[in-house]
Amino acid sequence: ASRSLSTFHDHILTSRRTLALLGAGLSAPSGIPTFRGAGGVWRTHDVLQLATPAGFAADPALVWAFELERRSLVRAARPNAAHVALAKLAEKNNHFLALTMNVDDLSERAGHAEDHLFRLHGSIFSTKCTVCDAHVAEDCADGGVRKLFEHDLSKPLTLADVPRCLEPDCDGLLRPGVVWFSESLPQPMMKEIFEWINDPNDSAIDTMLVIGTSALVYPATAYIEAARRKGARVAVVNVEKEDPSLLGLEEQDWYFEGDAAELVPRMLEAVVGGDG
Ligand code: NAD
Ligand code: APR
Repeated sequence: ASRSLSTFHDHILTSRRTLALLGAGLSAPSGIPTFRGAGGVWRTHDVLQLATPAGFAADPALVWAFELERRSLVRAARPNAAHVALAKLAEKNNHFLALTMNVDDLSERAGHAEDHLFRLHGSIFSTKCTVCDAHVAEDCADGGVRKLFEHDLSKPLTLADVPRCLEPDCDGLLRPGVVWFSESLPQPMMKEIFEWINDPNDSAIDTMLVIGTSALVYPATAYIEAARRKGARVAVVNVEKEDPSLLGLEEQDWYFEGDAAELVPRMLEAVVGGDG
């Protein structure tokens, strides 16, 4: 794989359709820890307790404490130059779609148009009922304070503090509205993405941006392979020395080692201009 920005610029200027897969590394420069890289959450926290339905059933209070901790991190975080550059690309290129695995709202807060962004794992600010599946609080992209469930994190959070469903005659425990391990992605969204990727009335995807992800988690990572099958050239941005994914890059692909907040604006300046 090439590490040349100039050949990437030549390519992106002629790109007709670009797909992007965004991972935790995109928000790491904004102060939100990743999951698997250095300092990753799953190195200090038990993913089975915190990010699976069984973990929630066993200890809902523990999961909510973890989730509220990450909500406050997201609120304190600011979008970085990579979020902004991707939002500008969405403005400039109508045939650009970003799939984010992140549950933060930094892309929206950077001005990334909703119709150019699918959030594969949901939003950390959405909450749903474990019994009737009602969504009791939609995530709002204004970065404002969420009303539904606040708790002073300096005090222990017990089962009695866990919010319950507000729907009449449902008293189910409420859970974070994110996609957990062993859960599938929402079918309607997967169908829409599949149709976008295979749109017969549009040119094939020619560029696949893979930004700040270990690309080990499925089904999200399968979208990279789908774009490659369409002939897309892949451009990976990651702090690791070599591509950490198992995909293996080819001759015509790119690997850019470094911080997404620094590299993504430089990669896209050819299209969105240099003000990063
Ligand atoms: P999983 O391991 O249960 O696998 C998901 C699906 O992908 C399964 O159908 C599996 O068969 C398939 N799959 C797994 N490895 C594959 C491979 N090498 N090739 C082809 N298919 C493969 O799912 P998961 O990775 O445990 O997580 C499920 C979803 O939950 C993922 O999207 C994950 O990112 C998400 N998640 C979200 C959070 C959060 O806080 N938002 C936390 C944890 C997990
Ligand atoms: N710039 C670019 N890449 C970075 C940066 C940075 N500043 N910081 C870290 N990275 C890279 C790491 O090297 C790592 O390869 O970002 C990647 C983050 O990978 P993960 O922590 O595995 O995050 P992600 O790939 O998004 O995880 C997928 O798994 O736990 C679930 O649902 C959760 O959405 C998450 C999914």
